[in-house]
Amino acid sequence: MRLFQPVPKAVDTMHLRDFNDSDADYRALVELENQTWPDTPTTVEAQREMVAARPDIRWDQRVCEIDGSVAGLGSCGAAFWLGEPGAFHVYVVVNHAHRRQGIGSHIFRDLLKRMPPADMQTLNSGCREDQIGGLKFLQAHGFVETGRDADAELDLAEFDIVRLAETCKDPSPARFRPLAPLTEDCPDWMERFRDLAYRIQAEAVAPEILEKPSAQQFAEEHLNARDFNPYLCWIARDGTDWIGLTELRSMADDDTAVEAFRTGVDPARRGRGVATALKLHAFASAKAQGYAKVVAHGDPDSSIGHIHRRLGFQFQPAWIGMQKPLQPPNP
Ligand SMILES: CC(C)(COP(=O)(O)OP(=O)(O)OC[C@H]1O[C@@H](n2cnc3c(N)ncnc32)[C@H](O)[C@@H]1OP(=O)(O)O)[C@@H](O)C(=O)NCCC(=O)NCCS
Repeated sequence: MRLFQPVPKAVDTMHLRDFNDSDADYRALVELENQTWPDTPTTVEAQREMVAARPDIRWDQRVCEIDGSVAGLGSCGAAFWLGEPGAFHVYVVVNHAHRRQGIGSHIFRDLLKRMPPADMQTLNSGCREDQIGGLKFLQAHGFVETGRDADAELDLAEFDIVRLAETCKDPSPARFRPLAPLTEDCPDWMERFRDLAYRIQAEAVAPEILEKPSAQQFAEEHLNARDFNPYLCWIARDGTDWIGLTELRSMADDDTAVEAFRTGVDPARRGRGVATALKLHAFASAKAQGYAKVVAHGDPDSSIGHIHRRLGFQFQPAWIGMQKPLQPPNP
């Protein structure tokens, strides 16, 4: 006689099916999403709009039911927003009450089984750093981190350039000015600015090769851009050399904020506090112009991320990009 009945695993009682276009499925999706991401709530309408806006690509969505109610959902399809051929994306979410019972893994394997392996060159996913379950789940399925991205914000009311400057390195002999007066005083400002901006951008996109824009192209795309402000673009100079720049740009959807757009310093002049000083000047200018905050996006562990932290930016939890190394298809 058996004394103990084995506890049935969730995988034994669950049923997988396709997501359908019904309001009931959309409501279940929204409920799961809002339970998991309460700080960025979504609605049925927003989810339907996202689907309507999606290009005509392969996109599989699966629903896991237990006793007739939705316990988890997953989707997998071409990651068109990455612009890389063969890039796929997978996402799984499971109701809190049903986690750690193998449901997420079941949905994940089912989704992958359905994907055409020859079309898939990379399998991408991601998770916010505060979703420990999501991170561990992806790691357990062989995903490795590819990068981090976080939103950060500096409250300019709290920003005190004098106090901060005392705690930062003395960047001399570098000198700092906004681009606006340099366009009056420096006859070859355009060529110098174009060259510096190009070098910084070329380093940022390497190993991709970036062609230097013509003077006309640079004027059209950079100087005449609607959000470009030569008073919020600061230049560092050493003697007659232009050695660094930082740019803040206005934002289309928030006229109280500027965005940290681009910063770079000549490799030979790094480590001397030039980027920090550029940012201090630019933030002080933004404050003087009446802006309330500076927003930034990027890797919180990069050198710019460290500078921002030091200058008082508050960071949101980072989004961690992850990728699963795939077996090459059999020849
Ligand atoms: C990620 C998620 C879908 C996992 O669902 P799940 O049904 O709990 O996952 P499984 O039970 O199949 O877990 C498989 C393995 O992942 C790891 N794992 C999952 N959650 C974990 C947690 N909270 N802590 C540590 N490890 C965890 C474990 O190795 C686990 O195996 P084990 O239970 O035998 O130790 C669920 O946590 C979730 O909905 N998170 C929010 C959405 C999200 O972040 N998705 C990730 C991006 S795809």
